[in-house]
Amino acid sequence: MEDPAPVTATPLPAEVAIGLTVNGVRRQLHVAPWTTLLDALREHLGLTGTKKGCDHGQCGACTVLVDGRRINACLTLAVMRDGAEVTTIEGLADGDALHALQEAFIEHDAFQCGYCTPGQICSAAGLIREGHAKTRDEIRELMSGNICRCGAYPNIVAAIEQAMGGAA
Ligand code: FES
Ligand code: FES
Repeated sequence: MEDPAPVTATPLPAEVAIGLTVNGVRRQLHVAPWTTLLDALREHLGLTGTKKGCDHGQCGACTVLVDGRRINACLTLAVMRDGAEVTTIEGLADGDALHALQEAFIEHDAFQCGYCTPGQICSAAGLIREGHAKTRDEIRELMSGNICRCGAYPNIVAAIEQAMGGAA
């Protein structure tokens, strides 16, 4: 039997040029093809508000909004998001005016160590935008991908409820 033909893999380029609009500002980056969006934000753009918890899509600490939808930034490659609009926790406030969710989190003591907070707030912003949550239980259910090791859940839900305008 003849030996099978050798398989030759095309080497990946060391870096790929991509463009992202991050918090309203157009940014150009050169990233390795395997760079996650999370690492691109934190390591390349210095936006360390977005946190790395598990790095495996299980904790929600890295949640950001991409084209208005919440996603786990550790589970997507930056090159797959070329041209996208990304909003991180740094982009939610309007100058000195905090986002309604940021104010509500402060008012309701919705954080302890604060490590999960940026992801919780970005996720909540996505949830409100989606418009599916109408009750406290639905908020809990739709925020279940965001883990808080400090157990601040009741206050987080109360803060989100307030930011939704008391409609929940
Ligand atoms: S760091 Fe992305 S889900 Fe945990
Ligand atoms: S406030 Fe500490 S992990 Fe949520």
